Amino acid sequence: MLVASNRGPVSYQVEEDGSLTAKRGGGGLVSGLSAIGPDAGALWVCSALSDGDREAVRRGVGEDGVRMLDVPADVHADAYNGIANSVLWFVHHMLYQTPLEPVFDAEFRRQWASYERFNRAFAEALAEEAAEGAVAIVQDYHLTLVPGMLRELRPDLRIGHFSHTPWAPPEYFRMLPDDVAGQILRGMLGADRLGFLTHRWADAFTACCEAFAGGLGGTRVGVHGLGADADFLRRRSHEADVDERMAALREEIGTGPDGGARRTIVRVDRTELSKNIVRGLLAYRQLLEDRPEWRERVVHVAFAYPSRQDLAVYRDYTAEVQRLATEINARYGTPGWTPVVLHVKDDFARSLAAYRLADVALVNPVRDGMNLVAKEVPVVSDEGCALVLSREAGAHEELGEDAITVNPYDVVGTARALHEALSMPAAERAERSKRLAAAATALPPGRWFLDQLDALRG
Ligand code: G6P
Repeated sequence: MLVASNRGPVSYQVEEDGSLTAKRGGGGLVSGLSAIGPDAGALWVCSALSDGDREAVRRGVGEDGVRMLDVPADVHADAYNGIANSVLWFVHHMLYQTPLEPVFDAEFRRQWASYERFNRAFAEALAEEAAEGAVAIVQDYHLTLVPGMLRELRPDLRIGHFSHTPWAPPEYFRMLPDDVAGQILRGMLGADRLGFLTHRWADAFTACCEAFAGGLGGTRVGVHGLGADADFLRRRSHEADVDERMAALREEIGTGPDGGARRTIVRVDRTELSKNIVRGLLAYRQLLEDRPEWRERVVHVAFAYPSRQDLAVYRDYTAEVQRLATEINARYGTPGWTPVVLHVKDDFARSLAAYRLADVALVNPVRDGMNLVAKEVPVVSDEGCALVLSREAGAHEELGEDAITVNPYDVVGTARALHEALSMPAAERAERSKRLAAAATALPPGRWFLDQLDALRG
């Protein structure tokens, strides 16, 4: 069994003394696939992403069951930053802003050639590693051409592909140049079976194939809604380092005028345009404006961890998040109250601490394949939390009933939802949170992966 993804389970960093330290990769894809574990006998083929990773490849350092591909750094940069994150991510999350974007010019064509080369490197590595009749599951928008390429090299294999993102509807997808759109769809349709996180994304893909590729051919399409790993989260969130961070966070949050702990609205994201952090802050500002009774009594705990910082648009977005948080604190803050507690340094233990303290979780992406934070907070929160959830997150398909639903563009509506969430009676909140946690853990990562394997083999 083989798995292929751009980001792998670990990433290496060269320390000052020349040694290599390993760190777990971030994002939903790695969370889902990490359940496979070293005992499954799988080989995970991934990219060398950092200088540390390339050094690890050169030194022959690595984990059992992981093969890192050292594609030339400029080819990888074109494929990952240029095509995958600046074009395909933007198409599927519908993030483009006319009149400036998109422009498919000669530079795009050059980068597309690198994307093809990058995909070919994966197809060749998989073809080389796979035993006769093996199963290969290819992941995400970085590797859409791999199934078709691999099919040509190794017709004996069972090939799957899984998308961790939304899929764009045909009217949006067709903004890609026709030949590129056709290559992507044909590449995906090289698989025996394609997996998506929700029916909505699977239907959009099917509609694109009907509109631009003459249908699905013999390829099957299935839905597997990745859930949270309850056992891992409950255990991990009660370890000593999480307790320490809870104590530190409680200090930062402080007590309200009545002497009781302040309410917390928690969000944890990669600093990512689709996560809609800026409109979340605008909604919080609106709440403080419309409902002054919450001033001094609530804190917005926002963790916005750096992501894809090679791209200017992500750097600008990060700066805007920081600017707005500072502005809100300057406008409303008092000597004993910081309205927004913003942290930007990635710290998983601190995220879990915030989950435990959360009264309200704010998950308001403009579009999101699933969003695991929406599923994790109800599992971990000590007293149960109210979930304010965007109707555009894949998780809404499973959690919508017990969440407070928002249109992510509607800042006033989101402010109203935050007020409703903060005002929810404790008993109702605990009840709903329990049901959310049950729905969120219905398909834990191990099961999620095995279901795909069974369906592919079957
Ligand atoms: C999303 C994508 C994953 C990606 C993750 C983190 O969840 O679907 O493929 O790994 O974001 O993004 P990054 O660019 O850091 O790998």
